[in-house]
Amino acid sequence: MPKVLRLHEFTGPDGLRIDDITKPDPKGNEVRFNVEAFALNYGDFELMENGYVFSIDLPSRMGDEASGIVDAIGPEVTQFKIGDRVSSMPWMNEGYGVNGEFAIVPETFLAKYPENLTAAEGCSIWVTYLTAYYALVEISKIKKDDFILITAASSSAGLAAMDVAHLLGATAIGTTRTSENKQFLIDAGVDHVIVTSKEDISERVQDISKGKGARVIYDPIGGPLVMKYAGAMGQNCDIYLYGGMDPRPTVIPEMEMIRKAAVARPYSVYNHIYDKEQRERGVKYIYEALESGKIKPRVDRTYPLEDFRKAFDYQLKGKGRKGKIIILP
Ligand SMILES: NC(=O)c1ccc[n+]([C@@H]2O[C@H](COP(=O)([O-])OP(=O)(O)OC[C@H]3O[C@@H](n4cnc5c(N)ncnc54)[C@H](OP(=O)(O)O)[C@@H]3O)[C@@H](O)[C@H]2O)c1
Repeated sequence: MPKVLRLHEFTGPDGLRIDDITKPDPKGNEVRFNVEAFALNYGDFELMENGYVFSIDLPSRMGDEASGIVDAIGPEVTQFKIGDRVSSMPWMNEGYGVNGEFAIVPETFLAKYPENLTAAEGCSIWVTYLTAYYALVEISKIKKDDFILITAASSSAGLAAMDVAHLLGATAIGTTRTSENKQFLIDAGVDHVIVTSKEDISERVQDISKGKGARVIYDPIGGPLVMKYAGAMGQNCDIYLYGGMDPRPTVIPEMEMIRKAAVARPYSVYNHIYDKEQRERGVKYIYEALESGKIKPRVDRTYPLEDFRKAFDYQLKGKGRKGKIIILP
């Protein structure tokens, strides 16, 4: 029987087990595929501790992002056929989950990915790039010469935001907590790196931008950090609070935001991916950028399925990370 990762208790990765389950036939608009690779996301930890934007009934399969080859389709499927090379998008689990040797996903949340990508790269696209796409392209309409402040820039989400900022001709300023990831960020293409344990974020952004300030602050951390970058805001700054990696309460710099006509928005790709037109626009934009080679997902390490605990440990440690952590089941 095929092996899948299932969560049995909300105790983080300790609650995960490899289970042998029978492969169900896909129903309705469901597509079944043999998984070649699946990607870990920081959000998995939040969900595994029942502290995410949605919850799940246990035991539950986990994970949003997998790539593989279609081996069966439900009777209402219109966009995919057996043999297609596909990868899954972020959605609110809803009893699905793709971490394992096979996955079943409604066709709505499945896309083909460009031939020039490996399976490991193919499962490292939609969560990070679509999240950056709606914020930077559709909502903030970033332009050439804008400055984007990306906190936790070494995260997969941060690196994807840098890529999208560059597609738009903007300058990416990335933060990291310590010097350990600084060289990696420079090598990855971040235009300016700020080490938050040593440098004043607001002063550095104002220096780099020659007083213009950031048009967007793309921040998965939140908490007290927000007050530290308050002085980095440019006119009409959009602050995207999209992660809450710092569990402490987020305090908004209200007066400074009024002066700058700034907006702070709790933000998620889930708010956009359920709308068919938005989803299709995002997938087309990112697909074309990948196909042309202008952007490419960064894969750090791969692990076999039986080493899933090592993979989650490495994902959580963060330091020295160089992109996505992938499991090859
Ligand atoms: N809202 C959405 O739609 C959406 C979509 C995608 C991701 N996200 C969120 O984005 C965040 C990043 O996800 P990811 O999968 O890209 O993460 P990841 O690749 O695991 O990135 C982790 C990096 O973040 C930094 N970091 C970790 N803990 C931190 C903390 N407490 N304070 C400050 N920095 C910290 C570290 O960088 P340094 O050591 O270099 O500082 C670490 O390398 C998560 O909160 C996730 O839920 C949200």
